[in-house]
Amino acid sequence: MSKQYRITLLPGDGIGPEIIAVAVSVLKQAGEQLNVGFTFTEALLGGAAIDATGNPLPEETLEACRNSDAVLLAAIGGYKWDNLPRHQRPETGLLGLRAGLGLFANLRPAKILPQLVDASSLKREVVEGVDMMVVRELTGGIYFGQPKGIFATETGEKRGVNTMVYSESEIDRIGRVAFEAAQKRSGKLCSVDKANVLDVSQLWRDRITLLSDEYPDVELSHLYVDNAAMQLIRAPKQFDTIVTGNLFGDILSDAAAMLTGSIGMLPSASLGASGPGLFEPVHGSAPDIAGQDKANPLAQVLSAAMMMRYGLNEPEVADRLEAAVDQVLDAGYRTGDIMSEGMKLVGCQEMGEALLQAL
Ligand code: IPM
Ligand code: MG
Repeated sequence: MSKQYRITLLPGDGIGPEIIAVAVSVLKQAGEQLNVGFTFTEALLGGAAIDATGNPLPEETLEACRNSDAVLLAAIGGYKWDNLPRHQRPETGLLGLRAGLGLFANLRPAKILPQLVDASSLKREVVEGVDMMVVRELTGGIYFGQPKGIFATETGEKRGVNTMVYSESEIDRIGRVAFEAAQKRSGKLCSVDKANVLDVSQLWRDRITLLSDEYPDVELSHLYVDNAAMQLIRAPKQFDTIVTGNLFGDILSDAAAMLTGSIGMLPSASLGASGPGLFEPVHGSAPDIAGQDKANPLAQVLSAAMMMRYGLNEPEVADRLEAAVDQVLDAGYRTGDIMSEGMKLVGCQEMGEALLQAL
């Protein structure tokens, strides 16, 4: 192999191990065809890590990730761990990993594939041609702001507190990622905030507006988040690149994903200023179908493609993985979440085999 990459695999919980196994097999095969090799190291994150060590993000996991060229994550979480104290929840492990690797930029493309137009719950004419990128700030905002916690007041009544906070430098660095993403796409950027109510959003809007002077080729617009949610469902094709904070991005990226019919199709990339990126499907660990060979592995495979494109700068491997996904869909293979009349219903493993065939 002319090139060799060290990949940390985080299978996580629920359907995670099933879908990541498919991604690893197609990565290996596509890599071999293009003379690109991988060494895979598995590490624990989320519920799996809690069960084994009591900690959702063991220090060895963070170390393994830091020492690799890229990190491929499946999904974390499940009912089993939902009632543990916050520091022992699977989600806390994921947030710690994002913070620990400095992954402030989360790219979530939502593109409707022609083969799946009828899988969307919206009308064909509304969703056909949807192709957008949500750029979500990932290590700041209300997810991380201080103070946070549940505090007892003098009267004995408890108060729950989180703080939405963004500094100028945090807004500027995610803003730059978004303007640059828009430049590579159709040159349209929509910034989403709640500046009519929130001061933090006013600062967000002011900084993004200021930044736009440096990107005269990008057409900038602003929307309040409630209106943006409405517009996403009403007329999604008006959007190209969206930039927003952590919480609004969490919500809007799920909505954008669902336009395409199934959240089971969408990958994401989380990138920092330097160091390894983290690549994971937008969907969760689906504990209700875990271990039943029903999961859709395609978002995981497309996340591996994003890893090759954005993380390792190996676009040819990415192209090949994406083409394989296209081919299996063209051939009519469908997991339950994207099944429609006349198509061939397959499980996770069989989808994996079809991908290898396509390669
Ligand atoms: C996501 C998820 C996570 C988030 C959870 C699992 C912590 O919903 O990646 O969108 O809220 O960021
Ligand atoms: Mg989410």
